[in-house]
Amino acid sequence: MSAILAIESLSIAYQTEKGLLRAVDNVDLRIEDREIVCLVGESGSGKTTVANTILRILPPNAIILDGRVLFEGVDLLNMEEEDMSKIRGRKINIVPQNPSTALNPILNIETQFCEFLKHKKGIRERDRCREIAIDLLGRVGIADPERVLKLYPHQLSGGMKQRVLIAIAISTSPRLLVADEPTSMLDATIQSQILDLLLDINRREGLSMLLITHDLGVAMSACNRIYVMYAGEIVESGSTERVISKPLHPYTIALIDNAFLSFKSQGIKRAVSGEPPNLIDLPSGCRFSSRCPMAFDKCVKERPNLVQRGIDSVRCFLYHDASA
Ligand SMILES: Nc1ncnc2c1ncn2[C@@H]1O[C@H](COP(=O)(O)OP(=O)(O)O)[C@@H](O)[C@H]1O
Ligand SMILES: [Mg+2]
Repeated sequence: MSAILAIESLSIAYQTEKGLLRAVDNVDLRIEDREIVCLVGESGSGKTTVANTILRILPPNAIILDGRVLFEGVDLLNMEEEDMSKIRGRKINIVPQNPSTALNPILNIETQFCEFLKHKKGIRERDRCREIAIDLLGRVGIADPERVLKLYPHQLSGGMKQRVLIAIAISTSPRLLVADEPTSMLDATIQSQILDLLLDINRREGLSMLLITHDLGVAMSACNRIYVMYAGEIVESGSTERVISKPLHPYTIALIDNAFLSFKSQGIKRAVSGEPPNLIDLPSGCRFSSRCPMAFDKCVKERPNLVQRGIDSVRCFLYHDASA
């Protein structure tokens, strides 16, 4: 397998009034051809910053401190904006978190589809566009595409809007879909339908996917591999099966406890107690040490490296000796 996307040593900060906020620190992440890779972590861990870096849609106060984002072997971060705009929305597409704000409220679905196809594929003829749109809406499980094309966003449910956006996202036959919390704004019953649709699209369209989620349950049911992010760093990665059955990092263990507890207690989740560190004033030791039930002296003083073994990695002193 060859990597569609290889993020190498990526570090991103935001300029803020209180100083530099280190949102992403030395992140490595690979996505192989046709793979679904999950980036999991609680809110504020830097997931959206990674997604926005891949698409090069970071806000103006973001600073790329270091790193490369290789897409099909070419560094996106070095590219002229003109070349990047041929990749963004064509070879790499996004499935947004909030389908309601991603669609234009004053245009019907047909017009939005046709605007996108005109801009990204040079298709100007209305009949041809309608034909393509009907086919794509069928492919995302919309039973009556002709009727849906005539509707405005407010006439569609959240799940239907997300289906429309997924149809638009696959219209350019992208190699990579970046889905940043694609189900978190939807009702629980609709969430699994949209997740199933994304899995189906991965299989049928043969594309790769970066699925970003704070919900380990979503990652478990969808991904080939998982990267766990905490306070801007990758703290663990591996196959979904290995990460779920034999988690290594105390933070991953806490996340899994939490996910299973929420099944048992029907939605009442126990948060990992404590708060993540301040990203403007980071501790010198392990970033998880203040919340870690396993922490010892060294954890507060020194920063653990990411120890890599095959596709598995973990950033924790408990495993440093084992790798020597
Ligand atoms: N434009 C911005 N300016 C300053 N800080 C930001 C900005 N965007 C995000 N952040 C901060 O960067 C950190 C990572 O945010 P984000 O990438 O959105 O995380 P996640 O998607 O995991 O919730 C958070 O502390 C967040 O407050
Ligand atoms: Mg986010």
